[in-house]
Amino acid sequence: MANKESDKRTPSTIEKFLLHLHPQRIDVRAIKFTRTFGLGGISALLFVILCLTGLLLRFSYVPTVADAYDSILALENKSIFGKFIRSLHYLSAVSMIIISFLHLIRVYYSQSIFKKRAENWIYGLIMMLMVFAASFTGYLLPWDQLAYWAVTVITQIIEYIPLIGHSFANTVRGGTEVNGNTLLNFYSLHTGILPILFIVLMGIHFWLVRKAGGVALPQQEEKVKVKVFPNLVWKEVMTTAIVVAVLFVLAAVITAPLLEQANPHNSPNPSKAPWYFLGAQELLLHLHPVFSAVIIPLAAGIYFFALPYFRYTNLNIGVWFNSNKGKRVVVQSATLSFVFTFILIYLLEHFLHFDIWLSGWHSWLSTGLIPFILYVAPVTGALLYWRKKHMAQVTELFMAITTIILSSYICMMLVSLLLRGEGMLLIF
Ligand code: HEM
Repeated sequence: MANKESDKRTPSTIEKFLLHLHPQRIDVRAIKFTRTFGLGGISALLFVILCLTGLLLRFSYVPTVADAYDSILALENKSIFGKFIRSLHYLSAVSMIIISFLHLIRVYYSQSIFKKRAENWIYGLIMMLMVFAASFTGYLLPWDQLAYWAVTVITQIIEYIPLIGHSFANTVRGGTEVNGNTLLNFYSLHTGILPILFIVLMGIHFWLVRKAGGVALPQQEEKVKVKVFPNLVWKEVMTTAIVVAVLFVLAAVITAPLLEQANPHNSPNPSKAPWYFLGAQELLLHLHPVFSAVIIPLAAGIYFFALPYFRYTNLNIGVWFNSNKGKRVVVQSATLSFVFTFILIYLLEHFLHFDIWLSGWHSWLSTGLIPFILYVAPVTGALLYWRKKHMAQVTELFMAITTIILSSYICMMLVSLLLRGEGMLLIF
């Protein structure tokens, strides 16, 4: 009776706003923390923090080659809380990459990307690419050695794309090398175009979650529904408070990196891409650019966008890893591909000198196709093994392929980040 009374009460303005995001009542399983780990919501929160701190940074930042670096120094040394705001922005950006990637992993492995959620997966992937783009464009703005050479490395990788590579890289840079035009291009993208696009896409993304009836849940006859106020909203408030508190503490003890001012005539050794692109830089060290900069990224991109649309045989929407067998396959493929990629990197660096052994061959064969086959053949063997020996279904095999791609990329990224020193040589 008391509940009915409170249902009839007119919602406050805040409640009305929140009701655009949430329905009035929600399946009790949807608000269990381990269903979503709050990762989508935390990504949205980080976006808000990034916009607020970014707006504050704009008061003192000057996007010109002559003044950018000095304006950052002035912000850090002369503005009250300048260093703190810059570190908060930096840490939120790093967290945004990690958290939205974990959110991608969550929706994928909890089988929440199929049928009516397929479209949202596509918007999500576009947003993931935009997270990288936003982070990358922000990377250049301090105009220090780290920024200048990281952007130089990445735009040089873009040049490897046949036919359009050079003109695309020149458009991104606003010239043949990283200069004042690049800074201005990146500044416009970082502070204007990308945030606006984000707001639009996030709106569509949230609306599609509601249109699909909320987060994906396993089939169940009896559904227990609870009111969004206070059950879900309370959890959201708590999560917000915890995330903000953690970021504030971290920003007080960790300072965003700043090396000496950019010097186009003195490249640091090694020159590394931003950490999230290091997997791509690592790949380029081992495989011919036709494979590492074109075929593999293109194939992986098409694969991820097509993921919800393959012909699956045994979908279990909302069920983590689809089945127990799925869980086993994912754990095995993650371990196998991580270890195998690591070993292959080591062998290609120290023992497998295909460029010398097959010196008469076209380089895209000797340093492209051959090492590529060396990777793909055992992976295909593992997939056949799971199919034959464990009777893995199409859904589980696709999960294995996705896991192999992600795990190999993470392995390459970590090797490049932690184990490469001068001349980009392995340090062991
Ligand atoms: C970058 C900013 C992003 C924000 C702010 C965001 C936000 C959200 C929120 C709040 C939800 C509701 C439930 C939850 O918290 O999981 C959600 C669901 C979803 N998101 Fe995202 N998301 C982002 C990126 C992505 C990415 C990178 C992908 C995948 C490529 C993705 C795919 C999905 C899908 C498929 C759902 C529906 C899941 C379900 O029904 O269980 N999102 N997102």
